Amino acid sequence: MGYVECHCHLLPFVDDGVKTKDQALSVVASYKEAGFDTIVTTPHLYNPQVATQVNHIRGMYNWLKGECSRIGIDLILGSETYVGSSYSPKNIPFLGNFVLVEVDALVEPLFLLNYAYTLIKNGHYVILAHVERYNWFSETSVVMNKLRDMGVFFQSNSDAVLDGKVDSYIEKNLIDIIAGDNHGDIKIPGQLAACMQLHPTILQNMNRLFNK
Ligand SMILES: [Fe+2]
Repeated sequence: MGYVECHCHLLPFVDDGVKTKDQALSVVASYKEAGFDTIVTTPHLYNPQVATQVNHIRGMYNWLKGECSRIGIDLILGSETYVGSSYSPKNIPFLGNFVLVEVDALVEPLFLLNYAYTLIKNGHYVILAHVERYNWFSETSVVMNKLRDMGVFFQSNSDAVLDGKVDSYIEKNLIDIIAGDNHGDIKIPGQLAACMQLHPTILQNMNRLFNK
């Protein structure tokens, strides 16, 4: 049974992730070597700081899925959907019902409560990406606690876990998922696998969530 990477940017010519097909293949090979058998690639959607070539997503995904299947990796298409206050974005859910969302780092996203509520009501599981990046995210944040009560899952990036930045959240069982948020670095798969070994409870939780 292999590990799951559920947040990364491995489609070339799409967003600020990998730049070339060769780079995508190297990164995928490094996931294989580190013991992963499932990768969810999550191109940015609606992020105001990232220009996403949405028209390239399907073609690049189909190409990379074929390359991955040759080495025994299941590549799944998802998205990392930026949610703002003034619109209701569409997203690409993965494994049928998981939705990965990100928000602005500085402003406490009250609007996310509505957005997440609607998704959950419609049968989705909501994952909030890289929670360590948000200034507003804390154990006393009203929004954080409401999201938690609603059943939103919190994801942390492997570099934050290894740097000890989320230790207090992990101690309080606030981190459900660790992911690489890989934009083209062949070292991240090994680091992410090390995180899983360091935190077996989170790994078990992820395996249960993703039906592994
Ligand atoms: Fe990301």
